[in-house]
Amino acid sequence: MQAVVLVGGQGTRLRPLTDSRPKPMMSMVDRPFVAHQIDHLVRAGVRDVIFSCGYRPDALESHFGDGRAFGVKLRYVVDPEPLGTAGAVKNAEEYIDADRFLVLNGDILTDLDLHAMLAQHQATGAVGTIALTPVEDPSAFGLVRLHDDNSVEEFLEKPSADELRPGEPYRINAGTYLMERSALEFIPAGQKVSIERETFPKITATGGLFGFPSESYWRDIGTPASYLDANVDVLAGVVVTESPTPGPYLGAGVSSGSGRIAVDACVGDATQVAADASISRSVVGARVRVGQGAQIRGALIGDDVVIEPGASVLEGAVIGDGAVIGAGCEVGDSAIPTGAVVQPDGRVLAAS
Ligand code: GTP
Repeated sequence: MQAVVLVGGQGTRLRPLTDSRPKPMMSMVDRPFVAHQIDHLVRAGVRDVIFSCGYRPDALESHFGDGRAFGVKLRYVVDPEPLGTAGAVKNAEEYIDADRFLVLNGDILTDLDLHAMLAQHQATGAVGTIALTPVEDPSAFGLVRLHDDNSVEEFLEKPSADELRPGEPYRINAGTYLMERSALEFIPAGQKVSIERETFPKITATGGLFGFPSESYWRDIGTPASYLDANVDVLAGVVVTESPTPGPYLGAGVSSGSGRIAVDACVGDATQVAADASISRSVVGARVRVGQGAQIRGALIGDDVVIEPGASVLEGAVIGDGAVIGAGCEVGDSAIPTGAVVQPDGRVLAAS
């Protein structure tokens, strides 16, 4: 079995952190996020992986190389311009030689049972099978409605209350697909095509698209809040990964003196945490300096950030690489650009 992993998006919702790295290279505890997807594939016996890249492919290639060190054969294709989620699969066609293949969105943390999904895919004779995850409120998502045999009845994008049927299960696209090679014929070449909006409806019209309802752990890491939650879940061992649990996670060379680092925190390599500083429920990058008495709680902090003594970086804060948070400042639910300086009086100066 082969897998195409879509890793080409811009990750705009995670800016400014994705100014300096593509979303799949954002850390998730002790490794880049997409390394967890490779681990998941390896656990399921998949050894042939294609990264379909767009934005900043070099960062992926320089870390993963030919994949050997990660237990896979890894190849790369790069969109000439953003091709969308189906165009990016079509772009990988030259490397897809198996009869069927997996497609993974590069921003989903899951321990979905890929063997059970394959068993259903084979039993139904599907052209495509979409993993589905339950949600309580489907109004912000695309609801996937199934017939009794799990074939897809329809997609309802952001359904309103009157479109919902009483008692029906609310299931959404979980971003993991199994496809027959013939599914590629539904995707025009060299164009921007959305798999959700264009390709799946076409396959549904032939009766060949099925859903695979799953209750496995599932989280889209695309927003600051969900990215933070995913890190905390990995630390707590709520999802099967190869990362060390329980937390906290401390990278190589972290010095923490008498600073307090809670079980739900990740701290990157060579970060220095001064006496009486505290870090909880946060992801702190590499080479950060956290000054005496500073507090970090519910925040995402990039690499090479300086948090001066007595500063507080609190719930919802996203601090770009190289920023400086001045002594005694408080930063709450906001994004501080890469290299910006928050002065002690709270004024924000852009990077010089
Ligand atoms: P936002 O800009 O924050 O919405 O993030 P995103 O650009 O990653 O978009 P989205 O979350 O919709 O993408 C879902 C998955 O498909 C992610 O893993 C993206 O990396 C990937 N993806 C989205 N668009 C493209 C594309 O045009 N080309 C490639 N190769 N991958 C894509």
